[in-house]
Amino acid sequence: MTRALLILFSCLVAINQASLIHRCDLAKVLHQEDLDGFEGYSVTDWLCLAFVESNFNISKVNENADGSFDYGLFQINSHYWCNDYQSHSENTCQTECQELLSPNLLATIHCAKKIVSGIAGMKNWAEWTIHCAGRPLSYWITGCHL
Ligand SMILES: *[C@@H]1O[C@H](CO)[C@@H](O)[C@H](O)[C@H]1NC(C)=O
Repeated sequence: MTRALLILFSCLVAINQASLIHRCDLAKVLHQEDLDGFEGYSVTDWLCLAFVESNFNISKVNENADGSFDYGLFQINSHYWCNDYQSHSENTCQTECQELLSPNLLATIHCAKKIVSGIAGMKNWAEWTIHCAGRPLSYWITGCHL
């Protein structure tokens, strides 16, 4: 009985941890996907954004007061950017919101590029504006080998 519980517990921990991406692993993917310097934002801006939006949790989903949902690492909103079939969506990124929870991050990065290419840039994310904009951010890549 105890043993079974222990195994179950280990599985739950493993599943839970699988949704988290390590800071330097994320930095590497962002770098590989050419986000460093894209539209004038550096990898450190993206790392700070991922931290303040999701705490590096790839599978984070959050419901907003207006009934829309935010998906994934960058908490991308279902009214504007992706379709979750729950309510009307502009679906500007032409993707299903579920794709924005994928561990390979490709749909997320594709959509994030689209968002940051807009007139507001990274100011599309209120949390980035509050916590990351204009601050020293280089420590986010400390110890990462890019
Ligand atoms: C990641 O987000 C999902 C969905 O919001 C949540 O169920 C899970 O507990 C989170 N994982 C961690 C490690 O916080």
